[in-house]
Amino acid sequence: MGAAALTLAACAAPAEPEAAPSATGEGHEVMAASELKVGAQASVKINKADVIVYRQDESTVLAYSAICTHAGCTVVPGEDAKFHCPCHDSYFNVADGSVAGGPAPRPLTRFAATIEGDKVLVYL
Ligand code: FES
Repeated sequence: MGAAALTLAACAAPAEPEAAPSATGEGHEVMAASELKVGAQASVKINKADVIVYRQDESTVLAYSAICTHAGCTVVPGEDAKFHCPCHDSYFNVADGSVAGGPAPRPLTRFAATIEGDKVLVYL
């Protein structure tokens, strides 16, 4: 019984996070880079899509779909370098979107993002 439970737990382990895609197509300006301090997170919308961004350093912004991989709630900025889904308390690491806790089965979907001048651009 214990071995079966262990096997099931291993099968349910969250998938590996994706690498960030490269920036192609049309970049959407989501906010001024000066509004997103290094280490900060923000929720933004592109058309009707919910996106969450994290400024890793002066020249790097990471962007993810804010659709929780558990049941589709909207992921919001959180504490301790994690995004948070308030519906059932899933947490995602800001550095790669991987699951850091809760029932979410997979990492957040990544989008390419760049800083150009004072613009944060996200590529869907
Ligand atoms: S929908 Fe996000 S934790 Fe359930």
